[in-house]
Amino acid sequence: MGPSFLLAQFLCLLFFHSHSQPAHSSSNFSSSVQLCPGDQSLALLQFKNSFSMSSSPYGFSCYPPKKVLWKEGTDCCSWDGVTCNMQTGHVIGLDLGCSMLYGTLHSNSTLFSLHHLQKLDLSHNDFNRSVISSSFGQFLHLTHLNLNSSNFAGQVPPEISHLSRLVSLDLSSNSEELMLEPISFNKLAHNLTQLRELYLGVVNMSMVVPSSLMNLSSSLSSLRLWYCGLQGELPDNFFRRSNLQSLDLSSNRELTGSFPPYNLSNAISHLDLSLTRISIHLEPHSISQLKSVEVMYLIGCNFVGSNLGLLGNLTQLIELRLAEILDLSNNGFSGFIPQCLGNFSDGLSVLHLGANNLHGNIPSIYSEGNNLSYLNFNGNQLKGVIPPSIINCVNLEFLDLGNNMIDDTFPSFLETLPQLEVVVLRSNKLHGSLKGPTDQGLFF
Ligand SMILES: *[C@@H]1O[C@H](CO)[C@@H](O)[C@H](O)[C@H]1NC(C)=O
Ligand SMILES: *[C@@H]1O[C@H](CO)[C@@H](O)[C@H](O)[C@H]1NC(C)=O
Ligand SMILES: *[C@@H]1O[C@H](CO)[C@@H](O)[C@H](O)[C@H]1NC(C)=O
Ligand SMILES: *[C@@H]1O[C@H](CO)[C@@H](O)[C@H](O)[C@H]1NC(C)=O
Ligand SMILES: *[C@@H]1O[C@H](CO)[C@@H](O)[C@H](O)[C@H]1NC(C)=O
Ligand SMILES: *[C@@H]1O[C@H](CO)[C@@H](O)[C@H](O)[C@H]1NC(C)=O
Ligand SMILES: *[C@@H]1O[C@H](CO)[C@@H](O)[C@H](O)[C@H]1NC(C)=O
Ligand SMILES: *[C@@H]1O[C@H](CO)[C@@H](O)[C@H](O)[C@H]1NC(C)=O
Ligand SMILES: *[C@@H]1O[C@H](CO)[C@@H](O)[C@H](O)[C@H]1NC(C)=O
Ligand SMILES: *[C@@H]1O[C@H](CO)[C@@H](O)[C@H](O)[C@H]1NC(C)=O
Ligand SMILES: *[C@@H]1O[C@H](CO)[C@@H](O)[C@H](O)[C@H]1NC(C)=O
Repeated sequence: MGPSFLLAQFLCLLFFHSHSQPAHSSSNFSSSVQLCPGDQSLALLQFKNSFSMSSSPYGFSCYPPKKVLWKEGTDCCSWDGVTCNMQTGHVIGLDLGCSMLYGTLHSNSTLFSLHHLQKLDLSHNDFNRSVISSSFGQFLHLTHLNLNSSNFAGQVPPEISHLSRLVSLDLSSNSEELMLEPISFNKLAHNLTQLRELYLGVVNMSMVVPSSLMNLSSSLSSLRLWYCGLQGELPDNFFRRSNLQSLDLSSNRELTGSFPPYNLSNAISHLDLSLTRISIHLEPHSISQLKSVEVMYLIGCNFVGSNLGLLGNLTQLIELRLAEILDLSNNGFSGFIPQCLGNFSDGLSVLHLGANNLHGNIPSIYSEGNNLSYLNFNGNQLKGVIPPSIINCVNLEFLDLGNNMIDDTFPSFLETLPQLEVVVLRSNKLHGSLKGPTDQGLFF
């Protein structure tokens, strides 16, 4: 910060005082009383002025951004994003989410003199890889702290654990260099006993052992720890926490464990275990435990050999978002391909069920407007004919039905699929004349 900046701050301070004094001594004082204490309104202005409001090179992850237009000399309790206690006038809420603040948030910032704050939202700004100052630990009244997507880096300070009244803490989507050390995590877990929402997506927690998640507040209802570098085994009984409703552990590629265990918490309604090494066991008794689940993401999951038909039962209970890419190949699945996998109106583009032990016919329910580009059923025991409704897969580029027991005439109708490049039909019981399209790669 150069001298000219400090001078500007000093002038701003003078300007503020020369204008605020007459306001308080004016004749209609009682009707125009300024609720906001002068020191707090000054602190707010100095805080705001310590950032440039221009667009950052990092970019703001929200649209449209707000512009902070605070007028000096007016009651700060009337300013956008500022909430005051109506009795005391103290500033108790500050919402500057998505406000184009760009620059360093220093530990001497006047922000930290606003001791009465209960809710603080600085999300979606660009603090230019500032460290989260230990001064945040001074906000002893804070119940909500949101620093989502604001380009913080460094260590999450252990002093965060002083905020024992916190109900909601969101530090997600900052720079990948934001780290949470085990010692800080453990303090946080022990002292933030009121916590109901904890969002730490993209915070590097690779040193935190998954079992220490068990020490988090029992009132926790929503936990999102995606892409945190968690590694090691999550204890089974984590899924039994009675108040847990929403759980996102996705993209922790070294996180192991087992789901669903017996006696699952009845509360869980939103579950994302995508791209982890947590093994998914679909057994009849376990599916009946999933009644409260509404949304479930299991992208790239580690299904343990099971009856794929049970996935059909699962989708009757929940909105199973198996994503654009469903790769369940080489999972030892047996049974029929469930009808539920046949309605691809949800945007699924890659379906890989190869190298399993699937029986029966390939269901013919490829609805119009589906987005499938890759279909692979290679290496099962599928019988019957090639489903005629495959003709609705106008985006299909790759079709592999090889190594099955399909008993059909040669499917020359596939010729009309405009995008189809690779067709594998080898090792089946196809018959009839071979009138294949000439410009496609056909492998029999
Ligand atoms: C109080 O004073 C201000 C400026 O001096 C004036 O704009 C406002 O109308 C006055 N209010 C009342 C209620 O007289
Ligand atoms: C942001 O950080 C970079 C690198 O440390 C520095 O060069 C730049 O001046 C900073 N920008 C602001 C507005 O503080
Ligand atoms: C706050 O701290 C920063 C970095 O230590 C320093 O550059 C700046 O001058 C300080 N500001 C004030 C108002 O003391
Ligand atoms: C726990 O919170 C209390 C109350 O805010 C505080 O006095 C204490 O220092 C905190 N302990 C830790 C380890 O942060
Ligand atoms: C954080 O911000 C992102 C957008 O940048 C948003 O998608 C996400 O829902 C927010 N909250 C959490 C807990 O990740
Ligand atoms: C997370 O931190 C660990 C330990 O400091 C480091 O080895 C790893 O590269 C970091 N992960 C990312 C994604 O930055
Ligand atoms: C959980 O907290 C207890 C103390 O209450 C501690 O002994 C234990 O080591 C903690 N567990 C983990 C895995 O950190
Ligand atoms: C599940 O809960 C029942 C009754 O609460 C209990 O008897 C049983 O041991 C539990 N099973 C497991 C695997 O914890
Ligand atoms: C799965 O669905 C089939 C057909 O709807 C039904 O007969 C079977 O009982 C269901 N199984 C479970 C475990 O719900
Ligand atoms: C269709 O799939 C492509 C990728 O294969 C994807 O980019 C596109 O968004 C999908 N469209 C719909 C409507 O899901
Ligand atoms: C597929 O599901 C959609 C949405 O649930 C529904 O509108 C459509 O009729 C279904 N199509 C088939 C072929 O079952």
